[in-house]
Amino acid sequence: PVLVVDFGAQYAQLIARRVREARVYSEIVPSTMPVAEMLAKKPKAIILSGGPSSVYEEGAPRLDRAIFEAGVPVFGMCYGFQLMATALGGTVDNTGAREYGRTQLHVSKPGSTLFEGTPDEQSVWMSHGDACSAAPEGFTVTASTDMVPVAAFENDEKKLYGVQYHPEVMHSTHGQLVLEHFLYRGAGIEPTWTTGNVIEDQIEAIRAQVGTKRAICGLSGGVDSAVAAALVQKAIGSQLTCVYVDHGLMRKGETEQVEKDFVAATGVQLKVVDAQEQFLVALAGVSDPEEKRKIIGREFIRVFEQAQAEIIAEGDETGEPVEFLVQGTLYPDVVESGGGTGTANIKSHHNVGGLPEDLEFKLVEPLRQLFKDEVRMVGQELGLPEEIVHRQPFPGPGLGIRIVGEVTRERLDLLREADAIAREELTAAGLDREIWQCPVVLLADVRSVGVQGDGRTYGHPVVLRPVSSEDAMTADWSRLPYEVLARISTRITNEVRDVNRVVLDVTSKPPATIEWE
Ligand code: XMP
Repeated sequence: PVLVVDFGAQYAQLIARRVREARVYSEIVPSTMPVAEMLAKKPKAIILSGGPSSVYEEGAPRLDRAIFEAGVPVFGMCYGFQLMATALGGTVDNTGAREYGRTQLHVSKPGSTLFEGTPDEQSVWMSHGDACSAAPEGFTVTASTDMVPVAAFENDEKKLYGVQYHPEVMHSTHGQLVLEHFLYRGAGIEPTWTTGNVIEDQIEAIRAQVGTKRAICGLSGGVDSAVAAALVQKAIGSQLTCVYVDHGLMRKGETEQVEKDFVAATGVQLKVVDAQEQFLVALAGVSDPEEKRKIIGREFIRVFEQAQAEIIAEGDETGEPVEFLVQGTLYPDVVESGGGTGTANIKSHHNVGGLPEDLEFKLVEPLRQLFKDEVRMVGQELGLPEEIVHRQPFPGPGLGIRIVGEVTRERLDLLREADAIAREELTAAGLDREIWQCPVVLLADVRSVGVQGDGRTYGHPVVLRPVSSEDAMTADWSRLPYEVLARISTRITNEVRDVNRVVLDVTSKPPATIEWE
């Protein structure tokens, strides 16, 4: 792999994704990992990410200079660039002068490996305090800015490269090309990482892991569990049984998508448990958000365990035991929980509201190496329905936390209608890929006066909550076109009984969260 050494902040994940976009497999390692351990992974190249520290700060992350002497090509970015400069005898000054945001880069070396084919003047994204004033011996300075004399350098012989800016962010106009030059020209790596390879490799790995035993998988309707199940199905066929808990909190058409379209596309064996009544009874009289979440999580586990016990008890004609549980864990989860290759701990599966911790299964996690966009690509290649592959995030507790107030069947039906209209209109306007998600929330305990036809109405408001986001940690409200908002509003108030007002949530996150509960 290409190793991306993580010096904190969020840059490492973005770099790892960019490397994969260049069709080269990448993995993230913490900067605290001993260099010997990094080298044991036999990296084809190493990238040092940016980070929030100054190389002069006490306790700032360091790196053993052995990394530059192992004969592995290294590319330092931002903080990684300054570490490289100081480690190899260059000069980095704590000037106090800061350079943030879009900056003009002057490229001054025609024969440069990194800058080949890019313009002499280009826009790059900077964020640093310290500045490099002299490159280490043996290095050629290839770029500068108005404030920084050494903004990029390279030593082609030793295969060491560095840039002061962030080539991974899209504001650095030629960033991807510079990165690719490092990978292909500097490190001599062939771009061979493709979705097709991922599928083949995973199928082989799953077969080796599971052998002749059986596996089960919980389907939530979301993209991760669907793609994981489809991959495992492709690998082991009828040794896999999927479970879908119909808790009645799904949006319109989503249960059918799983029961019909997903099964048709994959041929998976599916056990559907209709638990709608059970969830409604458990939720009766409850309006506190946290309590609702707890109840939904608890009931989910009960139903899932029951289904799993039945599958085990029923057995199948092979008589093989059920030993494996398939989970749609993604690479960002693995990185964030600090995990390398361990498989033991079961992470609460946020798509389905948390599975019990004491499940006696071994885990099959075929998406552990993948980012979300790669999972979608794999899903597409496996022929999954478009609606599932490009589904927007939806909380495990479903519509249960989009009804402010008690959850009843009637209210769920109202909300399902309103939500379906909003989704239809957003799709028709071509806005699906632009917005991150658009929760529709029913304010079930609020009533307001309206007039419709000749009569007075006294109905509920629904809230539209369209947001744009990169990762759901922060979000901004989406500036939807007025015509689209008008169509949604008109249709909802005309078509959904008891809803006489549509309001728009114009709050960012923070201070508000995306969901209302
Ligand atoms: P908040 O409301 O915290 O939501 O800003 C952030 C993102 O997480 C989703 N969300 C959940 N997803 N189980 C999930 O799988 C949950 O319990 C849950 N709660 C919120 C939410 O839709 C948004 O994308």
